[in-house]
Order: sequence, then structure tokens, then C-alpha cells
Amino acid sequence: MRKPGPQLRLAALLCVLAPLSAPAQEQKAVTEPVPVFDKSFLSSRKNTAAGKEVWDSQCRHCHGAAAYPGKAPKLNPGALTPDFIYERVTYGFGKMPGWKDVFSIDQRKSVVAYIKSNGFSP
Ligand code: HEC
Repeated sequence: MRKPGPQLRLAALLCVLAPLSAPAQEQKAVTEPVPVFDKSFLSSRKNTAAGKEVWDSQCRHCHGAAAYPGKAPKLNPGALTPDFIYERVTYGFGKMPGWKDVFSIDQRKSVVAYIKSNGFSP
């Protein structure tokens, strides 16, 4: 049998190296600045109403009261800070998808206002 020539060995080496360099191109885009949540933003009816639409469209089916048990934890808004909710909504965590590319910053901020509002009903 013939030993593999240098060309074959180079090809084999590239096969090993290619997957190592691929993830570099998929790296997350630069993170956005974290918005400031003040009382007037959180209590604005306009924001909570916009947030309810986001919630109804994409969050309720996992987190809602009628969601399939175990799909997602029921949210306990009193225990969650606006910054934390925004972070999870934006980047996701574990089995929770991130919504950075789906919802605008304003939409993600508004769903935080809705979850923190008295009118929140999962
Ligand atoms: C596909 C189902 C799914 C959808 C859709 C979804 N989530 Fe989640 N979410 C999860 C799961 C699962 C977790 C728990 C992740 C973990 O901690 O491992 C979670 C966690 C969270 C948390 C953190 C809760 C905590 O106590 O740590 C927040 C806040 C949250 N989701 C908000 C939202 C909002 C707002 C939306 C809509 C924009 C949304 N989620 C859509 C599945 C989902």
C-alpha cells in the first residue's frame, strides 16, 4: 500500500481545522446597550398595551396560564427586575429563545412594561 502523500495529508489537516474556524463567523452580533427602565416608561399605558400585543403573539403560548404544563415556567413578575426580563427576552436562556432578531428594542421594552404592570395576566 502507498503511504498518503503530502497533498492528502494537507487535505486531511484542513478537514480537521475547518470546523474549528467556522464558529467564528457565527458569533453573536455586538450586544445592544441595556435600556433604562424608569417608572414613567413602565407605567405608560401606551407601552403596556404594546407589550400586551407582543405577549399575546409570542409569549403566552409558552408562559401563559393555559400553556402546556412544563413548556415554560410561569412568570413571577414581582421577583423579576425589568433589566432581567429584558435580558432574557433579548438573548434567551436555556430553552427560552432570544427575540433580538424578532422584536425591535421598543417591542422588547414594552413587553417588560406589560409583564411588570398590574394589568399583566399570563
Ligand atoms: C418556546 C417557548 C417559549 C417562548 C415562546 C417564550 N419563552 Fe420565555 N422561557 C421559556 C423557558 C423554557 C424559560 C426557562 C429558561 C431557563 O431558565 O432555563 C423561559 C424563561 C423566561 C424568563 C425568565 C424567567 C425566570 O424566572 O427566570 C422570562 C422573563 C421570559 N421567559 C419571558 C418571555 C417573554 C417575554 C416571551 C415572549 C417574547 C417569552 N418568554 C417567550 C420558554 C419560552
